[in-house]
Amino acid sequence: MKRIPEPFRIKMVENIHMTTREEREVALAAAGYNPFLLPSRDVYIDLLTDSGTGAMSDHQWAGLMMGDEAYAGSRNYYHLCDQVQKLLGYPFTIPTHQGRGAEQILFPCLIAKKQKEGGGKQPVFISNFHFDTTAAHVELNGARAINVVTPKAFDTKTYYDWKGDFDLDMLQTVIHEHGADNVVAIVTTVTCNSSGGQPISMANMREVYRIARQHNIPVMIDSARFCENAWFIKQREAGYTDKSVKEIVLEMYQYGDMLTMSAKKDPMVNIGGLCCFRTDEDLFNDVRIRCVPMEGFVTYGGLAGRDMEAMAIGLEEGMNEDYLSYRIGQVAYLGERLMEGGIPIQYPTGGHAVFVDAKLFLPHIPADQFPAQALNNALYLEAGIRSVEIGSLLLGRDPDTGKQKESPLELLRLTIPRRVYTNDHMDYIADALIALKSRASTIKGYTFTYEPPVLRHFVARLKPVE
Ligand code: F0G
Repeated sequence: MKRIPEPFRIKMVENIHMTTREEREVALAAAGYNPFLLPSRDVYIDLLTDSGTGAMSDHQWAGLMMGDEAYAGSRNYYHLCDQVQKLLGYPFTIPTHQGRGAEQILFPCLIAKKQKEGGGKQPVFISNFHFDTTAAHVELNGARAINVVTPKAFDTKTYYDWKGDFDLDMLQTVIHEHGADNVVAIVTTVTCNSSGGQPISMANMREVYRIARQHNIPVMIDSARFCENAWFIKQREAGYTDKSVKEIVLEMYQYGDMLTMSAKKDPMVNIGGLCCFRTDEDLFNDVRIRCVPMEGFVTYGGLAGRDMEAMAIGLEEGMNEDYLSYRIGQVAYLGERLMEGGIPIQYPTGGHAVFVDAKLFLPHIPADQFPAQALNNALYLEAGIRSVEIGSLLLGRDPDTGKQKESPLELLRLTIPRRVYTNDHMDYIADALIALKSRASTIKGYTFTYEPPVLRHFVARLKPVE
């Protein structure tokens, strides 16, 4: 892979400071051993998420000064619509405050539409993998969220180009079992966050869309990391090497009917989202009406004019190929350092994060004692690094039986914010994890002192198992 150094220089810095181990022990205990509850001042390197944590460019900051804060019809809204049309090919745009804002206004309308057509009695959504808020919005609307990602995603040690692909046989089986009439939408998540920021191939997107058409099921593209996915297609898929990322993105969006986007990722804004449609103007109008009470008037959707301007600029900046080469290269660099140090990771590394396989790192800790959370806490105590558990703690309980759902993977996600940390930081992170490896058998699991009924990983409180 062609790899280039940072295609930017640093104009402004934000100081961060290291704490002592004693300070971190006090802070972590006060946070109920849940790093989500740590104040960020107690964190040295923050790898909790790549969402809203990126560094905007000088152009984006300049865009903030061009904010037109009219309640209706802001010029920034029209700029945003033009950019969506030009870059993604969709003519109908609703701005939202972030990705889940788009989900909350879209999903009830999608279900209502299905029911108006006589289906949707036992509604389901099928995805390569629903992100947790996406699944939550599906379930809040009385539907079921079913994931059919390729089983190759669960074998972290074996290289595979497309660990974000749908398992097409499984997709057909699930459609058949539930009845196409009950499938409200197919959600194509690019890249597939939950399997490791792993890309989905163009061939798979095309085939998913063909199957969906056959059954009259709409396809929604969950677009948080669409530029990173396009970059992988350019690097790995036959026939795309000579295409530009912009051309690849335009083709990707032909294999969907609508999109939701968290613009806090690839478009590198601190807040913002989108809900857009390719042809279905009636659905667009239904969703717009819902936008008004939930997000705000249809031309601002919960955002200031200046936020929409930064997003309009970021949509295009995120596709810059020098930037993407540096970005994906930095994540790969951290992955290589960890593999050299004998740390088990999801291989190959994905777009936005390195996922450490905590099941393999801490084989003595059972799933119900949350190995990836244990590793998260150990890494924080070791080096002041905050990351995030993607495993059983996040997955939660089956709403029908109350039993802990079985997570196929117990992952610690080291999520890399865009244009924020240097490769020296990557070395620091790798050294800290490698140091922990020699003491892995002394790391303890965790149990609840407070377990919230839903979305429990955000505010749960825990204690180490003695
Ligand atoms: N879809 C995907 C694939 C996501 O990764 C996220 C957010 C969302 C939807 C929701 O977007 O946060 O703007 O409301 N992912 C973040 C993460 C929070 O840390 O992975 P949002």
